[in-house]
Formats: sequence, structure tokens, C-alpha cells
Amino acid sequence: MAQFEDTWQRQFYYLRLSVTDVCNFRCTYCLPDGYRPGHGNHKSFLTLDEIRRVTRAFAMAGTDKVRLTGGEPSLRRDFIDIIAAVRENESIRQLAMTTNGYRMARDVAAWRKAGLTSINVSLDSLDARQFYAITGQDKFHQVMAGIDAAFDAGFEKVKVNTVLMRDMNHHQLKTFLDWIRPRPIQLRFIELMETGDGGDLFRRHHVSGDVIRRQLIEMGWQLQPRGRSDGPAQVFSHPDYAGEIGLIMPYDTHFCANCNRLRVSAEGNLHLCLFGDHGVPLRDLLASDDQLPELQARIASSLGQKKQTHFLHQGKTGITQNLSFIGG
Ligand code: GTP
Ligand code: 5AD
Ligand code: SF4
Repeated sequence: MAQFEDTWQRQFYYLRLSVTDVCNFRCTYCLPDGYRPGHGNHKSFLTLDEIRRVTRAFAMAGTDKVRLTGGEPSLRRDFIDIIAAVRENESIRQLAMTTNGYRMARDVAAWRKAGLTSINVSLDSLDARQFYAITGQDKFHQVMAGIDAAFDAGFEKVKVNTVLMRDMNHHQLKTFLDWIRPRPIQLRFIELMETGDGGDLFRRHHVSGDVIRRQLIEMGWQLQPRGRSDGPAQVFSHPDYAGEIGLIMPYDTHFCANCNRLRVSAEGNLHLCLFGDHGVPLRDLLASDDQLPELQARIASSLGQKKQTHFLHQGKTGITQNLSFIGG
């Protein structure tokens, strides 16, 4: 099976697979009112066997990295089995997850044992009260204990996602830098993105990552090279710090030129971009192993519709109401 490639000659090595839309946090920029199942139409998420088949199709077409996302992926009762099922594919060398950190202190060692290779945690503030104001959950200390538990379990590095928000955390660079000086944490500032549900918040709090980039460069931080399956962050390092700083700047006009990832939602739709597409249903081709060639052919032919950019910088959010249904 040939490598998945689109009409702009971008190749796809990285699958972001959402395993549930459900989340127990209420982040202001994502699910401020909490997760709400649709009225009467209960969603059914991919089963373990469907997950096994969809990841095999991607692995056979060159995917070497899978990220489990949500919602909060660890709310799936079969989460350990999901990790093991994805790792059945030998060519998937990196299996990552993005989590709100809620279950980490309790479960991170078991996830690692099952085959998880890296972990990204959302943490928008180092102040417990501000954390509560942003997430609606009084779990700051639990998430911090989870990060320690990840190191204890043998993860050499932990990535932390911090959504950059004007008047919330954009003046706190020094606090974050002090925190990562002795710790091998890659702290990534993510520019707040406008979603269908989040227009007001965007207008009040969006701030460009350039504010941080300029300060880092002045302090002697240096940009690192980026690997072919890496995420979109520009990563900076400094000899005095064990940690690194990443900048995820989707409003930069070149952001999409290096796109290397595809997404599958928890309901089994292929999304070619975080913004703007309804998704190509794959689920009818996930019922048996015999459908694998047809599944791969559908994914490969859908790539012709992948657009050059998300058009966020032109003020478009497409149909994306919030990022929890597509896994960020
Ligand atoms: P690594 O592979 O570990 O570098 O991670 P990653 O940055 O790809 O994954 P993570 O889930 O931690 O992503 C952090 C956030 O970056 C996501 O939640 C999104 O907000 C944003 N992001 C990641 N990929 C894309 C993308 O393709 N487009 C846009 N607009 N934002 C993205
Ligand atoms: N803007 C930027 N990042 C977002 N996330 C969710 N919604 C948004 C948004 N509107 C990202 C955060 C969080 C991850 C799960 O999704 O990085 O850590
Ligand atoms: Fe949940 Fe993540 Fe959305 Fe926060 S950003 S509500 S933790 S899915």
C-alpha cells in the first residue's frame, strides 16, 4: 500500500484517533458547559475491534505515530486494551495520548506498561485557583501529581499544553520558565483558536504566540529542528533549562504547509482538517478484516479533498463548534 499523500504533496505519518467525545472538564475554550450528549441521539464510539482495523489500515500506509485523543480518552473503560490493540501494529513506533491529566496519577504506570510511549497533558495555569476558573474542575494538585507520576513511571519527557490567553496566562512566562528549569517538560503555548462556540472568548483572549517568541529569542532560546512525524510546535531550547518551550501558532500563514496528520473522530469519520470538513464516514468499512483494501482506498481517495490550509487566519471556523468532538 502506497504512502498516504494529498494533492499538495504532503505525506501523512501521524494519525490522531479520538476514542470518545466525553470529557469531565469544562475548559472555557472547549466545553464551557461541559459534555452534553445530543438530545436522545446517543452517540456510539468506535469499538475495540474497529479501532484495531482502522489503525491497521493507517499503519499499512506508512503511519508510524498514533495519538489517542478525545474528549478525555482515559474515560474509556477499555483504554488499556485500546493501547495494546494499537501497539499490535509493529510499524507504529510512537503511541501518544493527549489528556486532561485527571486519571494520570492513578493510571499512568499501567498505560506505559500497555505500550504508551508519550504523553501530553493540558495545563493552562500553575495557579490552582486559575486552573479551576479555566477547567471548572478543582483538580490542579491531582494533575500536578499525575505529571510526577508520569516521570516515576519512566516517561523521560512530558509535554504540557497551555492555551495562551490574554489577561489569563500570557504575562506568566517567567512562572512557567521557572517551573521547567529543572524538569524535562516541553511546555507548549497554543494560540487560542476560534471555534463556532468560542467566538466571544476568542475576541477577548486571543493573543499571538509571537509575544512569547520574541521574549524567548531575547533570552537566548534557540529553535530546534523538526522531525517528519512531529506535531506542529516550533520547539525552543536553552542550555540553562532541562525543559523546552514549544509554540503552536495556527494563525501563522505557513502553519499548514507541514501538515503531516489525519484525524479519525470517535464516531469513525475521517477528518482531513481540524476545521472545515464534515468528515468522511469510515465505519461501514470497519466491520470485518476483509474490508481493509476498500477502507484504504477510501482514505486515499478522500485525500484529494484536503485543502491547502484551515483558513483560520481569514476568520473561518468551518463547522467546528469545539475541538472535543475531533480530538484537538
Ligand atoms: P506532539 O506530536 O507530541 O508534538 O503533539 P501535538 O502537538 O501534535 O499534539 P497535541 O494533542 O498535544 O496538540 C496540541 C494542540 O495543538 C491540539 O490540541 C490543537 O489545539 C493543536 N493542533 C495540533 N495539530 C493541529 C493541526 O493540525 N491544526 C491546528 N489548527 N491545530 C493543531
Ligand atoms: N484553541 C486552542 N487549543 C484548544 N484546545 C481545545 N480547544 C482549543 C481552542 N479553542 C486544545 C488544548 C487542549 C487540547 C486538548 O485541545 O490544547 O490542551
Ligand atoms: Fe476536555 Fe480537553 Fe476540551 Fe478541556 S480541552 S474540555 S480537557 S476535551
